[in-house]
Amino acid sequence: MVKKINFKNIPNHLAIIMDGNGRWAKKRNLDRINGHREGIKSLRAVVSAVMEYGIKYLTVYAFSSENWQRPKTEVNSLMFLLDEYLNIELPFLIKNKIRLNFIGNIERIPENSKKTLLRVIDKTKECDNLYLTLALSYGSREEILAAAVRMAKDMKNGKIKIKDADENLFSSYLYSKNMPDPDFLIRTSGEKRVSNFMLYQIAYAEIYFTKTLWPDFGRKELIRALKNYEKRVRRFGKT
Ligand code: FPP
Repeated sequence: MVKKINFKNIPNHLAIIMDGNGRWAKKRNLDRINGHREGIKSLRAVVSAVMEYGIKYLTVYAFSSENWQRPKTEVNSLMFLLDEYLNIELPFLIKNKIRLNFIGNIERIPENSKKTLLRVIDKTKECDNLYLTLALSYGSREEILAAAVRMAKDMKNGKIKIKDADENLFSSYLYSKNMPDPDFLIRTSGEKRVSNFMLYQIAYAEIYFTKTLWPDFGRKELIRALKNYEKRVRRFGKT
């Protein structure tokens, strides 16, 4: 029986850059895809723990718009894994009332994976225990640019006025329009950068870097990170 920890404050929205699958596999002389497979196990463990601790929003960077430049075999394997993950996970998502969504430009996602994704989104649309968002074919600069263009179009066609433009209105044009900004961002694998991930939304997020490679990240590591978050004083620019 795992002892439940009561945190004094918990992030409402946790975002994770799941990095290090390739290095995990390389260290074991395995193909990179084995690292991604193992990474899915970590994702499952983290989803369960996140629910237990009452976090409402979990957003994970599953595939960046830059990841399309990886070798075709790896891209195909990741797309296959996405499809497999979603099919296997659906009963768990429904049972635990987890609503799935995505942020990103999914036009390039292969038809079968896209169909599965949209089916899972539809099947979980009434769920409200946890909002699980996959960042897929996601790039933050692209998202911001697309938002600016759509907002400009709405100004041009008179739907909105220039004087109404504010941060809230702009946020409503982002892929993330239906969720609050992340409070806490975790990046695994020792890299200390944000890699074009939710640049607009993480303006006031607390950031936590760990050297642990994503396939080695699980409940224990998450608790360590949440303990660190608990100690942080968030001032949002005020005194
Ligand atoms: C980074 O590891 C991870 C990714 C590019 C994708 C994250 C994917 C998963 C956790 C598994 C797939 C999940 C779904 C839902 C399909 P990396 O390959 O950049 O590792 P490296 O930096 O060590 O090479």
